Amino acid sequence: MSLLGLLVVLAAAVSLVAGDGKPCPGAPSMTVETACRNASGTQAMYDMCKDALAGVPDPESDHDVTVYAVDAENAALASVRATQDAAVRLLLYNSSLSGDERGAYLFCEEVYTAAEHDMGVAADKLGVCNLDGLADDYVNGLLAVESCRDRVLNLPASPLYAMVLVDRNKAALAFLLGKLLGI
Ligand SMILES: *[C@@H]1O[C@H](CO)[C@@H](O)[C@H](O)[C@H]1NC(C)=O
Ligand SMILES: *[C@@H]1O[C@H](CO)[C@@H](O)[C@H](O)[C@H]1NC(C)=O
Repeated sequence: MSLLGLLVVLAAAVSLVAGDGKPCPGAPSMTVETACRNASGTQAMYDMCKDALAGVPDPESDHDVTVYAVDAENAALASVRATQDAAVRLLLYNSSLSGDERGAYLFCEEVYTAAEHDMGVAADKLGVCNLDGLADDYVNGLLAVESCRDRVLNLPASPLYAMVLVDRNKAALAFLLGKLLGI
């Protein structure tokens, strides 16, 4: 890759992380407070929303909701990646896993790979204001995380369970913020 190509890729990565506020045609604008009130049915979800959008500059001003959707999807992705790392570490290094646990974590490792793909596609589409199939990308990512949650839920106890629950809620929150785009 040329140096220029590399710089373009880096700039794109940085703008994605920072949620640079590039307006998408037709997207509504609102404050972080309004967006989080809209997307959250419970205090726990509201707190998670404020947390996911803590990096938005000037949160009291109206911003294109795409900014919120991008930040929330990136927060969900980071959470999912951390859990997948934890699952892989358990599989590699924890010799006291039961057969059921090992099976569940292998399953989660697989479905989380699919979830990361779907959520990455959603984040990429948001980055270029492309809403085509976006709702399906959200739903597929969410269903993949939920299939892992259901598997881990059936274990007597698991160090992964709390992490998977957080992933599920962050993915759901990202979807609810994405819905503000009218998808
Ligand atoms: C949330 O936003 C949607 C889309 O803009 C709107 O239709 C709905 O009334 C809002 N709901 C709340 C509770 O503000
Ligand atoms: C290893 O797995 C067992 C069984 O799930 C668990 O109780 C223990 O906390 C794990 N150890 C580490 C270091 O995660």
